Amino acid sequence: MTASMRLRAAIVAVALVVLVVVAAPDRAATAAEDGARPPIPQQLWSFAGILGKYDDAALRRGFLVYMDACSGCHSLRHVAYRDLSALGVGFGPEDIKALAAQFKVEDGPDEEGKMFRRPALPADRIVSRFPNKQAAQHANRGMYPPDLSLITKARRDGTNYLFAFLTGFEEPPADAEVTPGMHYNRYAPGQQTGMEGVLSEDLVEYDDGTQASVPQMASDVTSFLAWAADPHREIRHSIGVRVVIFLLLLTLMLYALKREVWAHLHERKEEAAAAARARNEDRDHPDQAEMPH
Ligand code: HEC
Repeated sequence: MTASMRLRAAIVAVALVVLVVVAAPDRAATAAEDGARPPIPQQLWSFAGILGKYDDAALRRGFLVYMDACSGCHSLRHVAYRDLSALGVGFGPEDIKALAAQFKVEDGPDEEGKMFRRPALPADRIVSRFPNKQAAQHANRGMYPPDLSLITKARRDGTNYLFAFLTGFEEPPADAEVTPGMHYNRYAPGQQTGMEGVLSEDLVEYDDGTQASVPQMASDVTSFLAWAADPHREIRHSIGVRVVIFLLLLTLMLYALKREVWAHLHERKEEAAAAARARNEDRDHPDQAEMPH
């Protein structure tokens, strides 16, 4: 093996190791930790993978599901009304202004030092039903409905888990022990949760004609919450892809340059070696040097 072949083999080996480490799914710990909980089924998300894209129509349907079915208990504190412009059709500047104006926020103090309430503006965060955590907890028998802004990041395999959780409410099997006040959920930690199964057939009315089945609503609201947790995912990925392509091209160019530079050096080295050989021969056979051929 020549030196350059060894170098190439080493580069390929390092690239393979990096690929395996980067692409390996994070499933190693699943089974042991969760006891009786069945494995989380994997769904096909349009936004999965490096070239994935959010489906705007699904995000819009998911926002509707959030507003109608979840916002009564869960806040979405890290999303501002104007962020919703990413949802496309129906979320232009005027629509967002009108949407925000339906909610009231506390502002102030005014000149008299008093706090006052005013209609929300596009720059305000989505208004929570409850003014604070304690109020939300109090209204839910002491259990806090977590803020959903980052929920798909806060759980392992978050998007698949959220979908499984929302579709995992069912009659408890005969041998299941469900604490009073809790609800059986196939995929919840300990297979029970303080939240009721809130999704039921046709709970919301989609204006794009999609049938509002439970899995459809669960999938849409999961897409929406995945977007809420990572709105810049597509830009980040496309920059990443471009950087990788740039680095590959740069590597090829540098490799070509290296060959070019070394080709001259090799030539010079060979010329020098030939000259040295000639000199040595002259020294070893000084008389022959003068001999006519
Ligand atoms: C009636 C109030 C209520 C509604 C409506 C509601 N939830 Fe919940 N949710 C709760 C409460 C309370 C908890 C905390 C349960 C606990 O701590 O056991 C919870 C917990 C959760 C969790 C955390 C589960 C976990 O892994 O611990 C998620 C995710 C969730 N809700 C999503 C949703 C989504 C999405 C919707 C709308 C489709 C929704 N919830 C509607 C009350 C509600």
